[in-house]
Amino acid sequence: MDASFWLDKWQRNETGFHAAEPHAFLLRHFPAVNLVAGAHVFVPLCGKTVDIHWLLAQGFRVTGSELSQIAVESLFQDLGYKPEITLTDYGPCYSAGPLRVFVGDIFRLDATSVGTVDAIYDRAALIALPRHMRQLYAAHVVQITHAARQLLVCLDYDQTRRAGPPFSVDERELRALYAGHYTLTELEAEAVPGGLKGICPAQEVVWLLSPKRL
Ligand SMILES: C[S@@+](CC[C@H](N)C(=O)[O-])C[C@H]1O[C@@H](n2cnc3c(N)ncnc32)[C@H](O)[C@@H]1O
Repeated sequence: MDASFWLDKWQRNETGFHAAEPHAFLLRHFPAVNLVAGAHVFVPLCGKTVDIHWLLAQGFRVTGSELSQIAVESLFQDLGYKPEITLTDYGPCYSAGPLRVFVGDIFRLDATSVGTVDAIYDRAALIALPRHMRQLYAAHVVQITHAARQLLVCLDYDQTRRAGPPFSVDERELRALYAGHYTLTELEAEAVPGGLKGICPAQEVVWLLSPKRL
């Protein structure tokens, strides 16, 4: 799953992962993250998600990371924001008011560019990546955010029934990826209506990752 896979998806408007409404888990469980208004939320692999609209409406500042310029331009347009575009060492950075999105490969983004992060919201980021990249991704996100707490939405299904993305990430793998830095609490699990594209049963699970201060 290299960059061209995702850039082609955006180019062809094959964005079935994009939801019209904010995720129900975000609405129900973001309060458990326990942030004050003005806090800074990092949204990795953000696409043009309307979850960002919701986070902004709650008074949070948001930084996103996204490969596709098409997605980022749509995000700002949908919000009615006119972005200022600056060229950083990492690539173009779109910003307007409380929203900033770095366009490019998250693996090149560094902690200094992201700044102090109060929380991470991961929906369809970890599960967008194949297994060999998930370990690198988890370690990188921990590093660039100094292990900020996370609300993380996972998907669990029989990976032998369908190739990803989205990929299945079960509790065992999630713990292997994150338990060194976080205490993991399952907040809710819900069956995906109709299963995964009608092929097999699947459930979405939302986790709170609270940093272990070592
Ligand atoms: C499954 S989509 C999820 C988008 C968004 N989180 C949502 O819920 O709608 C995954 C997104 O990650 C982006 N992406 C994939 N690999 C990336 C990378 N290495 N760096 C930054 N963005 C990436 C893709 O372009 C795509 O928009």
